[in-house]
Amino acid sequence: MANTILVGAQWGDEGKGKIIDFLTEQADVVVRSQGGNNAGHTVIVGGTKYVLHLIPSGILRPGKVCVIGNGVVVDPVAVAAEIDGLEKQGIAVSRQNLIISDCAHLVLPYHRVIDEQRELKKGKNKIGTTKRGIGPAYGDKAARVGLRMSDLAQPELFTEKLAARIEENNVVLSAFGAEPLKFEEVRDAYLAAGKKLAPFIENTVVYLHEALKAGREILFEGAQGTFLDIDHGTYPYVTSSNTTAGGACTGSGVPPHRMDRVLGVMKAYTTRVGEGPFPTENDEISNMLHDMGREFGATTGRARRCGWFDAVATRYAGMVNGIDELAITNMDGLDTLATIRICTHYRLDGNLLDVPPSDLGQLTRCEPVYEEMPGWQTPTHEARNWKDLPANARSYLERLAELTDARLAIVSVGPNREQTIVL
Ligand code: IMP
Repeated sequence: MANTILVGAQWGDEGKGKIIDFLTEQADVVVRSQGGNNAGHTVIVGGTKYVLHLIPSGILRPGKVCVIGNGVVVDPVAVAAEIDGLEKQGIAVSRQNLIISDCAHLVLPYHRVIDEQRELKKGKNKIGTTKRGIGPAYGDKAARVGLRMSDLAQPELFTEKLAARIEENNVVLSAFGAEPLKFEEVRDAYLAAGKKLAPFIENTVVYLHEALKAGREILFEGAQGTFLDIDHGTYPYVTSSNTTAGGACTGSGVPPHRMDRVLGVMKAYTTRVGEGPFPTENDEISNMLHDMGREFGATTGRARRCGWFDAVATRYAGMVNGIDELAITNMDGLDTLATIRICTHYRLDGNLLDVPPSDLGQLTRCEPVYEEMPGWQTPTHEARNWKDLPANARSYLERLAELTDARLAIVSVGPNREQTIVL
Protein backbone atom coordinates (compact mmCIF):
# COMPACT_ATOMS: atom_id res chain seq x y z
CA MET A 1 0.00 0.00 0.00
CA ALA A 2 1.27 3.46 -0.87
CA ASN A 3 0.97 6.41 1.55
CA THR A 4 -2.76 6.91 1.51
CA ILE A 5 -5.03 9.70 2.69
CA LEU A 6 -8.48 8.42 3.51
CA VAL A 7 -11.23 11.04 3.61
CA GLY A 8 -14.97 11.08 4.07
CA ALA A 9 -16.62 12.31 0.86
CA GLN A 10 -19.92 13.33 2.48
CA TRP A 11 -20.97 14.70 5.90
CA GLY A 12 -19.08 12.21 8.06
CA ASP A 13 -20.15 8.76 9.25
CA GLU A 14 -19.34 7.27 5.85
CA GLY A 15 -18.14 4.03 7.45
CA LYS A 16 -14.52 5.17 7.44
CA GLY A 17 -13.66 3.20 10.59
CA LYS A 18 -14.25 -0.11 8.91
CA ILE A 19 -12.38 0.81 5.71
CA ILE A 20 -9.48 2.19 7.76
CA ASP A 21 -9.37 -1.05 9.73
CA PHE A 22 -9.39 -3.00 6.47
CA LEU A 23 -6.58 -0.92 4.90
CA THR A 24 -4.54 -0.96 8.08
CA GLU A 25 -3.59 -4.54 7.34
CA GLN A 26 -1.31 -3.22 4.59
CA ALA A 27 -0.09 -0.10 6.45
CA ASP A 28 2.72 0.18 8.98
CA VAL A 29 1.65 3.44 10.58
CA VAL A 30 -1.86 4.93 10.98
CA VAL A 31 -2.20 8.66 11.61
CA ARG A 32 -5.04 10.87 12.86
CA SER A 33 -4.36 14.44 11.78
CA GLN A 34 -7.46 16.47 12.66
CA GLY A 35 -10.60 16.59 14.78
CA GLY A 36 -10.91 15.29 18.29
CA ASN A 37 -13.21 13.03 20.24
CA ASN A 38 -16.14 14.40 18.26
CA ALA A 39 -15.35 11.51 15.90
CA GLY A 40 -16.60 8.01 16.50
CA HIS A 41 -15.27 5.11 14.49
CA THR A 42 -17.01 1.80 14.97
CA VAL A 43 -15.08 -1.33 14.07
CA ILE A 44 -16.37 -4.87 14.52
CA VAL A 45 -13.73 -7.59 14.73
CA GLY A 46 -14.64 -11.22 15.37
CA GLY A 47 -18.05 -10.20 16.68
CA THR A 48 -16.60 -7.69 19.16
CA LYS A 49 -17.52 -4.05 18.73
CA TYR A 50 -14.92 -1.36 19.34
CA VAL A 51 -15.83 2.32 19.29
CA LEU A 52 -12.84 4.62 18.92
CA HIS A 53 -12.97 8.37 19.28
CA LEU A 54 -9.40 9.62 19.28
CA ILE A 55 -7.14 6.61 18.94
CA PRO A 56 -6.70 5.43 15.34
CA SER A 57 -8.41 2.10 14.65
CA GLY A 58 -5.00 0.68 13.70
CA ILE A 59 -4.69 0.00 17.43
CA LEU A 60 -6.80 -3.13 16.89
CA ARG A 61 -4.10 -4.75 14.72
CA PRO A 62 -0.92 -6.01 16.32
CA GLY A 63 2.33 -4.52 15.05
CA LYS A 64 0.87 -1.22 13.79
CA VAL A 65 1.90 2.14 15.18
CA CYS A 66 -0.86 4.72 15.69
CA VAL A 67 -0.06 8.41 15.70
CA ILE A 68 -2.23 11.24 17.03
CA GLY A 69 -0.80 14.13 15.02
CA ASN A 70 -0.29 17.80 15.75
CA GLY A 71 -3.55 18.78 14.03
CA VAL A 72 -5.74 16.84 16.46
CA VAL A 73 -7.31 18.43 19.54
CA VAL A 74 -6.90 16.03 22.42
CA ASP A 75 -9.00 15.72 25.54
CA PRO A 76 -6.39 13.95 27.66
CA VAL A 77 -8.93 12.64 30.16
CA ALA A 78 -10.92 11.13 27.28
CA VAL A 79 -7.84 9.50 25.66
CA ALA A 80 -6.75 8.06 28.99
CA ALA A 81 -10.24 6.58 29.40
CA GLU A 82 -10.15 5.26 25.82
CA ILE A 83 -6.85 3.52 26.53
CA ASP A 84 -8.34 1.96 29.70
CA GLY A 85 -11.41 0.83 27.77
CA LEU A 86 -9.30 -0.83 25.06
CA GLU A 87 -7.17 -2.56 27.66
CA LYS A 88 -10.34 -3.92 29.30
CA GLN A 89 -11.29 -5.32 25.89
CA GLY A 90 -7.91 -7.09 25.72
CA ILE A 91 -6.07 -4.59 23.45
CA ALA A 92 -2.65 -3.67 24.82
CA VAL A 93 -1.79 0.02 24.38
CA SER A 94 1.78 1.19 24.96
CA ARG A 95 4.46 3.44 23.48
CA GLN A 96 5.06 0.58 21.03
CA ASN A 97 1.72 1.15 19.29
CA LEU A 98 0.61 4.70 20.17
CA ILE A 99 2.35 8.06 20.08
CA ILE A 100 0.81 11.49 20.57
CA SER A 101 2.17 14.74 19.15
CA ASP A 102 3.64 17.16 21.66
CA CYS A 103 2.09 19.95 19.53
CA ALA A 104 -1.49 18.63 19.66
CA HIS A 105 -3.72 21.13 21.43
CA LEU A 106 -5.69 20.21 24.53
CA VAL A 107 -9.44 20.30 24.90
CA LEU A 108 -10.20 21.70 28.35
CA PRO A 109 -13.44 21.72 30.34
CA TYR A 110 -14.09 25.40 29.55
CA HIS A 111 -14.09 24.50 25.85
CA ARG A 112 -16.88 22.01 26.46
CA VAL A 113 -18.95 24.43 28.55
CA ILE A 114 -18.51 27.25 26.00
CA ASP A 115 -19.47 24.85 23.17
CA GLU A 116 -22.62 23.90 25.05
CA GLN A 117 -23.48 27.49 26.03
CA ARG A 118 -23.02 28.82 22.49
CA GLU A 119 -25.32 26.13 21.19
CA LEU A 120 -27.95 26.99 23.82
CA LYS A 121 -27.69 30.65 22.93
CA LYS A 122 -28.11 29.95 19.23
CA GLY A 123 -31.43 28.22 19.95
CA LYS A 124 -33.00 27.00 16.75
CA ASN A 125 -29.96 28.15 14.76
CA LYS A 126 -27.68 25.80 16.68
CA ILE A 127 -25.01 23.86 14.78
CA GLY A 128 -25.84 20.60 16.51
CA THR A 129 -22.27 20.05 17.72
CA THR A 130 -21.16 16.98 19.63
CA LYS A 131 -20.56 19.30 22.64
CA ARG A 132 -17.03 17.95 22.99
CA GLY A 133 -15.54 21.47 22.99
CA ILE A 134 -13.98 21.07 19.55
CA GLY A 135 -14.82 24.52 18.14
CA PRO A 136 -13.62 26.50 21.18
CA ALA A 137 -10.42 24.38 21.38
CA TYR A 138 -9.53 25.13 17.75
CA GLY A 139 -10.57 28.73 18.40
CA ASP A 140 -7.99 29.00 21.19
CA LYS A 141 -5.37 27.39 18.95
CA ALA A 142 -5.97 30.03 16.26
CA ALA A 143 -6.05 32.79 18.89
CA ARG A 144 -2.71 31.49 20.21
CA VAL A 145 -3.95 30.96 23.73
CA GLY A 146 -4.22 27.16 23.60
CA LEU A 147 -2.41 24.67 25.82
CA ARG A 148 -0.63 21.76 24.17
CA MET A 149 0.43 18.21 25.02
CA SER A 150 3.97 19.47 25.63
CA ASP A 151 2.55 21.76 28.35
CA LEU A 152 0.72 18.85 29.94
CA ALA A 153 3.98 16.90 30.09
CA GLN A 154 5.43 19.65 32.34
CA PRO A 155 3.20 19.74 35.44
CA GLU A 156 4.50 23.03 36.86
CA LEU A 157 4.25 24.91 33.59
CA PHE A 158 0.84 23.37 32.89
CA THR A 159 -0.45 24.40 36.32
CA GLU A 160 0.67 27.97 35.79
CA LYS A 161 -0.80 28.25 32.29
CA LEU A 162 -4.02 26.53 33.29
CA ALA A 163 -4.58 28.93 36.19
CA ALA A 164 -4.43 31.90 33.81
CA ARG A 165 -6.72 30.25 31.26
CA ILE A 166 -9.29 29.27 33.88
CA GLU A 167 -9.28 32.78 35.31
CA GLU A 168 -10.03 34.25 31.88
CA ASN A 169 -12.55 31.59 30.90
CA ASN A 170 -14.46 31.79 34.17
CA VAL A 171 -15.28 35.39 33.22
CA VAL A 172 -16.63 34.10 29.91
CA LEU A 173 -18.58 31.32 31.63
CA SER A 174 -20.20 33.72 34.07
CA ALA A 175 -21.20 35.98 31.15
CA PHE A 176 -23.04 32.94 29.76
CA GLY A 177 -24.61 32.38 33.20
CA ALA A 178 -22.72 29.08 33.60
CA GLU A 179 -21.01 27.79 36.74
CA PRO A 180 -17.35 28.80 37.01
CA LEU A 181 -14.78 25.97 36.91
CA LYS A 182 -12.83 24.94 39.98
CA PHE A 183 -9.15 25.26 39.13
CA GLU A 184 -7.94 22.50 41.50
CA GLU A 185 -10.44 19.96 40.15
CA VAL A 186 -9.43 20.57 36.55
CA ARG A 187 -5.72 20.61 37.40
CA ASP A 188 -5.89 17.32 39.29
CA ALA A 189 -7.88 15.50 36.61
CA TYR A 190 -5.62 16.76 33.81
CA LEU A 191 -2.36 16.12 35.62
CA ALA A 192 -3.50 12.56 36.40
CA ALA A 193 -4.32 12.02 32.71
CA GLY A 194 -1.04 13.73 31.77
CA LYS A 195 0.90 11.32 33.95
CA LYS A 196 -0.70 8.38 32.19
CA LEU A 197 -0.11 9.88 28.75
CA ALA A 198 3.45 11.15 29.35
CA PRO A 199 5.15 8.07 27.85
CA PHE A 200 3.20 8.54 24.61
CA ILE A 201 4.09 12.20 23.98
CA GLU A 202 6.80 13.07 21.46
CA ASN A 203 7.60 14.95 18.25
CA THR A 204 5.49 12.91 15.82
CA VAL A 205 6.74 14.86 12.79
CA VAL A 206 10.22 13.45 13.33
CA TYR A 207 8.78 9.99 13.95
CA LEU A 208 6.80 10.10 10.69
CA HIS A 209 9.77 11.33 8.64
CA GLU A 210 11.90 8.51 10.00
CA ALA A 211 9.14 6.08 9.12
CA LEU A 212 9.02 7.49 5.57
CA LYS A 213 12.80 7.20 5.24
CA ALA A 214 12.61 3.58 6.31
CA GLY A 215 10.04 2.97 3.54
CA ARG A 216 7.19 2.31 5.95
CA GLU A 217 3.71 2.87 4.59
CA ILE A 218 1.41 5.36 6.19
CA LEU A 219 -2.36 5.57 6.27
CA PHE A 220 -3.86 8.95 7.18
CA GLU A 221 -7.31 8.35 8.59
CA GLY A 222 -9.66 11.25 8.14
CA ALA A 223 -12.33 12.04 10.71
CA GLN A 224 -15.68 13.66 9.85
CA GLY A 225 -16.28 14.37 6.15
CA THR A 226 -15.69 16.84 3.32
CA PHE A 227 -18.83 18.91 3.95
CA LEU A 228 -17.92 19.36 7.60
CA ASP A 229 -14.59 20.95 6.59
CA ILE A 230 -14.09 24.39 8.13
CA ASP A 231 -13.12 25.86 4.71
CA HIS A 232 -14.94 23.71 2.17
CA GLY A 233 -17.99 22.53 4.07
CA THR A 234 -21.46 23.96 4.58
CA TYR A 235 -20.22 26.76 6.86
CA PRO A 236 -21.16 27.46 9.64
CA TYR A 237 -22.70 23.98 9.93
CA VAL A 238 -19.27 22.37 9.95
CA THR A 239 -16.67 21.18 12.40
CA SER A 240 -13.61 23.31 13.16
CA SER A 241 -10.83 21.42 11.37
CA ASN A 242 -9.77 20.69 7.78
CA THR A 243 -11.38 17.34 7.19
CA THR A 244 -10.29 17.30 3.54
CA ALA A 245 -7.09 15.80 2.15
CA GLY A 246 -4.92 18.88 2.75
CA GLY A 247 -5.57 18.54 6.48
CA ALA A 248 -3.59 15.28 6.48
CA CYS A 249 -0.46 17.26 5.54
CA THR A 250 -0.81 20.21 7.90
CA GLY A 251 -2.09 18.01 10.69
CA SER A 252 0.83 15.57 10.54
CA GLY A 253 3.80 17.46 9.13
CA VAL A 254 4.10 15.06 6.19
CA PRO A 255 4.50 17.09 2.99
CA PRO A 256 2.07 16.80 0.04
CA HIS A 257 4.54 15.19 -2.37
CA ARG A 258 4.93 12.21 -0.03
CA MET A 259 1.25 11.34 -0.40
CA ASP A 260 0.59 8.72 -3.08
CA ARG A 261 -3.16 8.42 -3.26
CA VAL A 262 -6.42 9.73 -1.85
CA LEU A 263 -9.20 7.29 -1.11
CA GLY A 264 -12.70 8.75 -0.66
CA VAL A 265 -15.19 6.87 1.46
CA MET A 266 -18.89 7.39 0.86
CA LYS A 267 -22.11 5.64 1.69
CA ALA A 268 -24.38 4.29 -1.04
CA TYR A 269 -26.81 6.94 0.24
CA THR A 270 -26.26 10.12 2.27
CA THR A 271 -26.50 10.90 5.99
CA ARG A 272 -25.87 13.89 8.18
CA VAL A 273 -25.93 14.47 11.95
CA GLY A 274 -26.49 17.88 13.43
CA GLU A 275 -28.14 20.81 11.74
CA GLY A 276 -27.47 22.40 8.36
CA PRO A 277 -28.62 22.05 4.77
CA PHE A 278 -29.05 18.57 3.32
CA PRO A 279 -30.62 18.78 -0.14
CA THR A 280 -31.42 15.07 -0.63
CA GLU A 281 -32.80 14.47 2.89
CA ASN A 282 -35.74 12.10 2.75
CA ASP A 283 -38.04 10.95 5.55
CA GLU A 284 -38.90 7.65 3.92
CA ILE A 285 -35.24 6.59 3.70
CA SER A 286 -34.58 7.87 7.23
CA ASN A 287 -37.47 5.82 8.62
CA MET A 288 -36.50 2.74 6.63
CA LEU A 289 -32.87 2.82 7.84
CA HIS A 290 -33.78 3.65 11.45
CA ASP A 291 -36.32 0.80 11.47
CA MET A 292 -33.47 -1.48 10.40
CA GLY A 293 -31.58 -0.24 13.50
CA ARG A 294 -29.08 1.63 11.31
CA GLU A 295 -27.82 5.20 11.34
CA PHE A 296 -27.47 6.08 15.00
CA GLY A 297 -24.33 8.07 15.89
CA ALA A 298 -21.34 6.34 17.52
CA THR A 299 -20.42 9.39 19.61
CA THR A 300 -23.75 10.87 20.68
CA GLY A 301 -26.25 8.11 19.81
CA ARG A 302 -28.26 10.66 17.82
CA ALA A 303 -30.39 9.38 14.95
CA ARG A 304 -28.73 10.51 11.73
CA ARG A 305 -30.68 12.34 9.04
CA CYS A 306 -30.75 10.21 5.88
CA GLY A 307 -31.34 10.84 2.18
CA TRP A 308 -30.61 9.75 -1.37
CA PHE A 309 -27.07 9.66 -2.77
CA ASP A 310 -25.96 13.18 -3.62
CA ALA A 311 -23.56 13.15 -6.55
CA VAL A 312 -23.39 16.95 -6.63
CA ALA A 313 -21.75 16.76 -3.23
CA THR A 314 -19.44 13.82 -3.99
CA ARG A 315 -18.36 15.37 -7.32
CA TYR A 316 -17.21 18.43 -5.38
CA ALA A 317 -15.59 16.21 -2.75
CA GLY A 318 -13.68 14.56 -5.59
CA MET A 319 -12.30 17.97 -6.62
CA VAL A 320 -11.39 19.28 -3.19
CA ASN A 321 -9.69 16.10 -2.05
CA GLY A 322 -8.30 14.84 -5.34
CA ILE A 323 -10.01 11.49 -4.81
CA ASP A 324 -8.39 8.77 -6.93
CA GLU A 325 -10.24 5.79 -5.58
CA LEU A 326 -13.57 5.19 -3.90
CA ALA A 327 -14.81 2.94 -1.16
CA ILE A 328 -18.61 2.71 -1.14
CA THR A 329 -20.11 1.48 2.11
CA ASN A 330 -23.50 0.46 3.49
CA MET A 331 -24.58 -0.97 0.14
CA ASP A 332 -26.75 -3.49 2.00
CA GLY A 333 -28.82 -0.64 3.48
CA LEU A 334 -30.55 -0.25 0.09
CA ASP A 335 -31.22 -3.98 -0.49
CA THR A 336 -35.00 -3.77 -0.14
CA LEU A 337 -35.76 -0.80 -2.41
CA ALA A 338 -37.55 -1.28 -5.74
CA THR A 339 -36.31 2.02 -7.15
CA ILE A 340 -33.33 4.09 -6.07
CA ARG A 341 -32.79 7.77 -6.72
CA ILE A 342 -29.50 9.54 -7.33
CA CYS A 343 -29.22 13.31 -7.20
CA THR A 344 -27.17 14.35 -10.24
CA HIS A 345 -27.75 18.13 -10.11
CA TYR A 346 -29.30 20.83 -7.97
CA ARG A 347 -31.83 23.26 -9.35
CA LEU A 348 -31.48 26.84 -8.10
CA ASP A 349 -33.67 29.66 -9.42
CA GLY A 350 -34.28 27.75 -12.64
CA ASN A 351 -30.57 26.94 -13.22
CA LEU A 352 -29.02 23.48 -13.08
CA LEU A 353 -25.89 23.28 -10.86
CA ASP A 354 -23.40 20.45 -10.94
CA VAL A 355 -21.46 21.59 -7.86
CA PRO A 356 -22.94 22.92 -4.62
CA PRO A 357 -23.15 26.71 -4.14
CA SER A 358 -20.89 28.03 -1.37
CA ASP A 359 -23.55 30.34 0.01
CA LEU A 360 -25.63 28.78 2.75
CA GLY A 361 -28.82 30.60 1.75
CA GLN A 362 -28.48 29.42 -1.84
CA LEU A 363 -27.68 25.85 -0.80
CA THR A 364 -30.76 25.81 1.41
CA ARG A 365 -32.89 26.78 -1.59
CA CYS A 366 -31.41 24.13 -3.92
CA GLU A 367 -33.75 21.41 -5.08
CA PRO A 368 -32.31 18.04 -5.98
CA VAL A 369 -32.68 16.75 -9.53
CA TYR A 370 -32.88 12.98 -9.54
CA GLU A 371 -32.35 10.12 -11.90
CA GLU A 372 -33.79 6.73 -11.00
CA MET A 373 -32.28 3.29 -11.16
CA PRO A 374 -33.94 -0.06 -10.50
CA GLY A 375 -33.12 -1.63 -7.11
CA TRP A 376 -31.85 -5.20 -6.70
CA GLN A 377 -34.20 -6.37 -3.92
CA THR A 378 -31.77 -9.14 -2.95
CA PRO A 379 -29.65 -9.33 0.21
CA THR A 380 -26.05 -8.38 -0.57
CA HIS A 381 -24.46 -8.94 2.85
CA GLU A 382 -23.00 -12.29 1.82
CA ALA A 383 -21.37 -11.03 -1.38
CA ARG A 384 -17.59 -11.35 -1.23
CA ASN A 385 -16.71 -10.71 -4.88
CA TRP A 386 -17.85 -8.20 -7.45
CA LYS A 387 -19.62 -10.92 -9.43
CA ASP A 388 -21.59 -11.99 -6.32
CA LEU A 389 -23.44 -8.67 -6.40
CA PRO A 390 -26.75 -8.49 -8.33
CA ALA A 391 -26.39 -6.83 -11.75
CA ASN A 392 -28.53 -3.85 -10.68
CA ALA A 393 -26.32 -3.30 -7.62
CA ARG A 394 -23.22 -3.32 -9.84
CA SER A 395 -24.81 -0.82 -12.23
CA TYR A 396 -25.74 1.43 -9.31
CA LEU A 397 -22.20 1.38 -7.91
CA GLU A 398 -20.68 2.03 -11.33
CA ARG A 399 -22.97 5.01 -11.78
CA LEU A 400 -21.98 6.48 -8.40
CA ALA A 401 -18.29 6.16 -9.30
CA GLU A 402 -18.88 7.70 -12.72
CA LEU A 403 -20.73 10.67 -11.26
CA THR A 404 -18.04 11.18 -8.60
CA ASP A 405 -15.32 10.83 -11.26
CA ALA A 406 -13.16 8.32 -9.40
CA ARG A 407 -12.28 4.64 -9.67
CA LEU A 408 -14.33 2.22 -7.59
CA ALA A 409 -11.92 0.24 -5.41
CA ILE A 410 -13.84 -1.16 -2.43
CA VAL A 411 -17.47 -2.02 -1.69
CA SER A 412 -18.68 -2.75 1.82
CA VAL A 413 -21.80 -4.87 2.36
CA GLY A 414 -21.81 -5.05 6.16
CA PRO A 415 -19.93 -4.01 9.26
CA ASN A 416 -17.58 -7.01 9.54
CA ARG A 417 -14.08 -7.16 8.09
CA GLU A 418 -14.96 -10.01 5.75
CA GLN A 419 -17.99 -8.18 4.31
CA THR A 420 -15.71 -6.26 1.98
CA ILE A 421 -15.36 -6.55 -1.78
CA VAL A 422 -12.08 -5.39 -3.31
CA LEU A 423 -12.12 -4.61 -7.02
P1 IMP B 1 -18.39 19.57 16.44
O1 IMP B 1 -17.32 18.94 15.61
O2 IMP B 1 -18.71 18.81 17.69
O3 IMP B 1 -18.12 21.01 16.69
O4 IMP B 1 -19.76 19.54 15.60
C1 IMP B 1 -19.93 20.30 14.42
C2 IMP B 1 -20.73 19.54 13.39
O5 IMP B 1 -19.97 18.43 12.92
C3 IMP B 1 -22.05 18.96 13.92
O6 IMP B 1 -22.99 18.96 12.86
C4 IMP B 1 -21.68 17.53 14.25
O7 IMP B 1 -22.80 16.67 14.22
C5 IMP B 1 -20.71 17.23 13.12
N1 IMP B 1 -19.75 16.18 13.46
C6 IMP B 1 -18.66 16.26 14.24
N2 IMP B 1 -18.02 15.10 14.30
C7 IMP B 1 -18.69 14.26 13.51
C8 IMP B 1 -18.48 12.90 13.13
O8 IMP B 1 -17.52 12.22 13.51
N3 IMP B 1 -19.41 12.38 12.27
C9 IMP B 1 -20.45 13.11 11.79
N4 IMP B 1 -20.67 14.37 12.12
C10 IMP B 1 -19.80 14.95 12.97
